[in-house]
Order: sequence, then structure tokens, then C-alpha cells
Amino acid sequence: MVLIDTAASMIFADCSSSSSTARLLLFNTTKLQKYPDNISLFRRSNSLQFGISSRSSSRTIITHCSSPSTSAIQINNETFAKVIDGKRVAKDIREEIAVEISRMQEEIGIVPGLAVILVGDRKDSATYVRNKKKACDTVGINSYEVHLAEDSTEEEVLNHISKFNDDPSVHGILVQLPLPSHMNEQNILNAVCIEKDVDGFHPLNIGRLAMRGREPLFVPCTPKGCIELLHRYDIPIKGKRAVVIGRSNIVGMPAALLLQREDATVSIVHSRTKNPEEITSQADIIISAVGQPNMVRGSWVKPGAVLIDVGINPVEDPESPRGYRLVGDICYEEASKVASAITPVPGGVGPMTIAMLLSNTLLSAKRINNLRMPAENIV
Ligand code: GUN
Repeated sequence: MVLIDTAASMIFADCSSSSSTARLLLFNTTKLQKYPDNISLFRRSNSLQFGISSRSSSRTIITHCSSPSTSAIQINNETFAKVIDGKRVAKDIREEIAVEISRMQEEIGIVPGLAVILVGDRKDSATYVRNKKKACDTVGINSYEVHLAEDSTEEEVLNHISKFNDDPSVHGILVQLPLPSHMNEQNILNAVCIEKDVDGFHPLNIGRLAMRGREPLFVPCTPKGCIELLHRYDIPIKGKRAVVIGRSNIVGMPAALLLQREDATVSIVHSRTKNPEEITSQADIIISAVGQPNMVRGSWVKPGAVLIDVGINPVEDPESPRGYRLVGDICYEEASKVASAITPVPGGVGPMTIAMLLSNTLLSAKRINNLRMPAENIV
């Protein structure tokens, strides 16, 4: 998806200028002891101060700038955002899920099962599916995979969905997107029974998400992961101005609906939005999901804002052994000096998506077996 066509050509350049201070900060802040971590932040600052002053001849002064719930760090006169460590949170969630699954197996002999249907030979999709299977293995979810050739028919996909719908050992069904262009995505997503729709893409689940007083059975995994990060870092959403950049069915649209359900005032910026930075610069929370490297510059961000970056974009990097590296939609180098908290790429939202898929699969197994459900539909 191309966002903000005219601005794009000016701002897609890689904005990183690689400051050793910023990298050092990221390295230290990814080792959080706990979250929210106002206390550990002080501890961190000691090692930070030590690390930086050993490289710098000038005296380094570190103070803490507190916004209501997040604490940025100030070094000399520059402020750096707290890093929201999705990798760490996702690991904790996987551990929580593994404990629940082993208890479930011991007590009622049920093991949650996830079926994944992959069509075609897209490398990125194959990697996502492999990672999902690996994650299932680590928490004790049984995974079932069907890999169909690119030229398979829609009917073949529908037949597999129908079998999984009827299979009591399968609690979640996921059809990896995108599908080959000759297939009708709507028909296929509609065929997954809503009780096993762990992706939350069925129109009934999305419709319920959009309606006041109605509850979806599942919430799409990436937006759910974004909100979960805000919750676990104790970042308030109620009454805040939130801007979602991108309006895809998978991330942007459901993210906006979720933020609204949490009582944020939500704007959506998309490819036809005029002066997007005028809107983003009023936001307390920005979720960006457009797939445009470094599009959101520091000047787009209100001081103290919280930034959730869903983009995972490869950019050329001759210094990297692979010839490329991954960057987000948000220019980290610039935005981390303005925001109060920010997700890194990689290691931010990415690991949360799979953690939420595992969470949805466990939720489904519990619901199907009439086990006690959490009060909220979030983890
Ligand atoms: N393709 C990219 N993201 C997703 C996702 O969250 N679920 C599915 N099924 N396909 C995807």
C-alpha cells in the first residue's frame, strides 16, 4: 500500500545516521527487568551513565522526564524514548500460555490445536508459517499444516477449511494471506467458522469489534499485540488522542476499532490524507502500519507521544551480511528523541503477533471446552 504519495518521495530515504549513544541506549533498554518499569529505569540509568561516559570525554547528565505513565530518559539536553520491548513481552506471554496449556492437558486432557493453510510459494508467507509452527511447538499447541500449490483451486482450500471446521482437535484455523490472485479472499475467510477464527478476520468478528455492546470472539493478532503492549507498559489509552496510519483489514482498521473501544479519540491517516503530519503531531499515541520505511519523521511526532511501529521493511545495507536490514515505518533515530516510548524494529510488534495467535488459540480451546474465560478478550 502506498501512503501519502506526494510526501513519499521526499521522505523514504533512510534517516538513520547511526549515533552510538542511541544504539547504546537501545541495547540497555531492551534489558528491562519488568514492565511498567519506572523503578528498573533508574537502575538502568546507572549502567547507561557508566557506558556512555566511558565513551565520552564530556560530563554526561542523565535525568528522567516523566509523562503520566511512561518515562523518557534525558542525556545532556537530549531526551530518549523508553523502548517498548515486544520481544521480551512476547516471551513472557508464551511462558504464561505454556503454563496454562500444561495445566489444561493435566486436568482435562485437552491440547489446543492450530491448523494453518498456506497456498503458493511466497517466501515471506512460508517464513511466517514456519515461525507460527515453531511458536506452537514451544508452548505445547498441536499444529497442523496444509501447503497447497500456487495453482490450487479455491474449492480445494474450502474443502480443507471445511474439514478443519469439523475436526474437534482443531481449535484455530488460519489461512495465510495474501492468497493467489485467482482466489476470492472473501469467500475463503467467510468459510472459517467464527468459533475457530483465531485471526479474527471473519466479517462477523470484525463487525462485532466495530459495534458498541457487542463482543468479537477473536481480535486480529497484530492490533491485539499493539494494545497488549500499551497495557503491559501501563500506558493509558482512555481519553487520549490516537492516530492510526494505514487502514488495512489486517492491522490499521481493527487497530483503530480497538483503540476506540478503549475510549481513545481516534483518527485514521491514509493514502488520501492531506497534511498527515498535521494530524500525527497532535497524537498521544501513534500506531503506524503502512510498510513504508522511515516515513514518520521526528517532526511528525508530538513530544512525549507513544509510538507503536508495525512496519517491518527491508532496506539496502551493504554493511549487513544479508545486504539489507529491517526498519519500521517510523524513523527511529529521529522519533526516539521526541517520543516518550517507542517500539523498535525488529523486536517490537513483530513478536507480539505470533504471541497473540497462540493466545487466541488457547482462548478458543478454552471456549470450546467451556473452561473459565478471562473477563476481557485480551490475553
Ligand atoms: N499475512 C500477514 N499478516 C497476517 C496475519 O496476521 N494473518 C494471516 N492469516 N495472514 C497474514
